[in-house]
Amino acid sequence: MTSTSTPTGKLAAVTGGASGIGLASVERLHADGHGVIIIDRSMDAHEVAARLSTPELPVVAKIADLSSAEDIARVTAEIDEEFGGVDILVNNAGIHPKKPDGGHFPIEDITLDQWNLVMDVNMTATFLLSQWAMKAMTQKGWGRIVNVASRAGRMYMPISGAHYAASKAAVISFTRYLAGDCGPFGVTANTVAPGRIKTPLSDVSGLGSSQNLHEEFAKSVPLRRVGRSDELAAAVSFLASEDSSFITGSVVDVNGGIFG
Ligand code: NAI
Repeated sequence: MTSTSTPTGKLAAVTGGASGIGLASVERLHADGHGVIIIDRSMDAHEVAARLSTPELPVVAKIADLSSAEDIARVTAEIDEEFGGVDILVNNAGIHPKKPDGGHFPIEDITLDQWNLVMDVNMTATFLLSQWAMKAMTQKGWGRIVNVASRAGRMYMPISGAHYAASKAAVISFTRYLAGDCGPFGVTANTVAPGRIKTPLSDVSGLGSSQNLHEEFAKSVPLRRVGRSDELAAAVSFLASEDSSFITGSVVDVNGGIFG
């Protein structure tokens, strides 16, 4: 799994690293030779850190609620004090409110509180953490920011509420501007846009088992299946590596070929 051209000895922070795509990204970046800080609201982050951490390559858990600007300020100050910033930032944590039956989430049903929460976690945390991380990265003259958006930020998907889709489209646009501001300093910023990936977040039980819904959805995917978290982590690993040195502001679709 380790790429010979991947720089080692870097320090990565991965939000939402206790589950799903974030967890797979933590495992992959660690296998690539990086120390990793998991930022998550879930205490499971401690178990992941304990399982993976080695004396040479630590994995550290930081518990924070990314819907809170105060919590973000606290955790980033801690990281600055303990580690002096990070070299790689993966803004992966996200929430995706769904209708209980897994069906269309109409705009008229979205409350202002729901709208604000989705924007805070999916977009504002990405902005605040990127703004923080780019300071140390631009000073060092090297850095990688990888933001996890969604296929829903690229096209109309009735199952995704407009709040979720708008937050993910905003992440894509924000990342282009991040790339613009960071580029002169040797820091890249890219987006990964997952299609349906089997994780707790995509578990739409509703009218049947989530497995059945995944199988039904898979019929519309050219590769005829839903994705795995490690397949997302591979894209994150590449965009966090030296191999992607001339790629910035881009969106990497990891969706099995489904664009409609
Ligand atoms: P997941 O639900 O398995 O993991 C999300 C992680 O984020 C959890 O560990 C959770 O504790 C953490 N988190 C959520 N809200 C938080 C908050 N306020 N503060 C701190 N941590 C918080 O989700 P999954 O599927 O791994 O999703 C990861 C990213 O991928 C999300 O941004 C999601 O929108 C995106 N995505 C996922 C797709 C899928 O099919 N699974 C498809 C498209 C995008």
